[in-house]
Amino acid sequence: MKRKVLSMVLATSMVAATLVGCGGGSSETAAPAADAPAAEAEAPAAEAEAPAAEAEAEAPAADAAAPSGNKVGVAMPTKDLQRWNQDGSNMQSELEAAGYEVDLQYASNDVATQVSQIENMINGGCSVLVIASIDGESLTTVLEGAKSAGIPVIAYDRLIKNTDAVSYYATFDNYKVGQTQGQYIVDTLDLDNAEGPFNMEITGGSPDDNNATFFYNGAMDVLKPYMDAGKIVVPSGQIEFATVGTPAWSTETAQSRMENILSSNYSDGTKLDICLCSNDSTALGVENALAANYTGDYPVVTGQDCDIANVKNMIDGKQSMSVFKDTRTLASQVVKMVGQILKGEKVEVNDTETYDNGTGVIPSYLCEPVFADVNNYKELLIDSGYYAESDLQ
Ligand code: GAL
Repeated sequence: MKRKVLSMVLATSMVAATLVGCGGGSSETAAPAADAPAAEAEAPAAEAEAPAAEAEAEAPAADAAAPSGNKVGVAMPTKDLQRWNQDGSNMQSELEAAGYEVDLQYASNDVATQVSQIENMINGGCSVLVIASIDGESLTTVLEGAKSAGIPVIAYDRLIKNTDAVSYYATFDNYKVGQTQGQYIVDTLDLDNAEGPFNMEITGGSPDDNNATFFYNGAMDVLKPYMDAGKIVVPSGQIEFATVGTPAWSTETAQSRMENILSSNYSDGTKLDICLCSNDSTALGVENALAANYTGDYPVVTGQDCDIANVKNMIDGKQSMSVFKDTRTLASQVVKMVGQILKGEKVEVNDTETYDNGTGVIPSYLCEPVFADVNNYKELLIDSGYYAESDLQ
């Protein structure tokens, strides 16, 4: 019932929120380098000036009564992948700059560890929880505790499923990430005009991560017509998500799977033209496999996250593109949401249709992903201060 009221409020606010966009571009350029905590200027203070009257009138704060207090729990999945380190440190520095106390935890990709970290956050007096889940379906029980304690939960980057304890979701447009990868392949190989056929292999993401199917579906929706027309073929025959997934987004798993594919299908000199990889950690595994087991012309390889190792490979011609999701932008948006929740203000969202977590649609804020390649990475990554030039050497 509360969700119904909330969605009415959200519907009226959607147009404005959509117009605002994520990060609005300008705040991105002013943002600090990922690992530079000197974020004072970045404090999302602007929101503090939000017109109080209007906001208070609409204060929905989802299922939360009136969260008070100053401590925010931030649960991140793992330090193994570069991006989560950036997400965590951006969140910490921005929240602290905005005056909050932060309990930041990483769970080594272990679900039980993440559950106990969340329990500690609930018992330790956190007023809001921001959670990037490891397995989106494993937090139902622990989040019952958050709900009964009146602690709102923001799902960070990955949707948390099967619990009505989640108030909001902030992420990048995950379907668009996949579309961007697919379209990059279409454009780079000029698939509308080239004869083909082109050989493709697909490496998907982790099956327990709700994002993984969005990435896969976004890319496949673009590529499927070319597959149906015979312009793209998949020599391994491994096409369905169930056969291409990579548990835990593991580089090693992606590498050994690709080694098998190469030895079974390409050792006779068959050309591999396309490696559709959902993200950078899996792309890295594929690139390692190619380096050791493939001598033909290098295929188009996609990725996501602009991790340093992958940007270096992009510069070296071993990866064609990566989807850039500026973790500073997402962190700023989530810090803004935290402030709006704690102040009882209307929480800014721009999507109330896409992400149903099994208990209903979770009001979401989707940031815009963009592609990066060797032609634009300097502008996107270095000029914006995301990386220093020396990081990429
Ligand atoms: C996804 C995330 C991607 C990628 C992947 C591996 O949920 O959206 O950016 O990093 O996890 O951690």
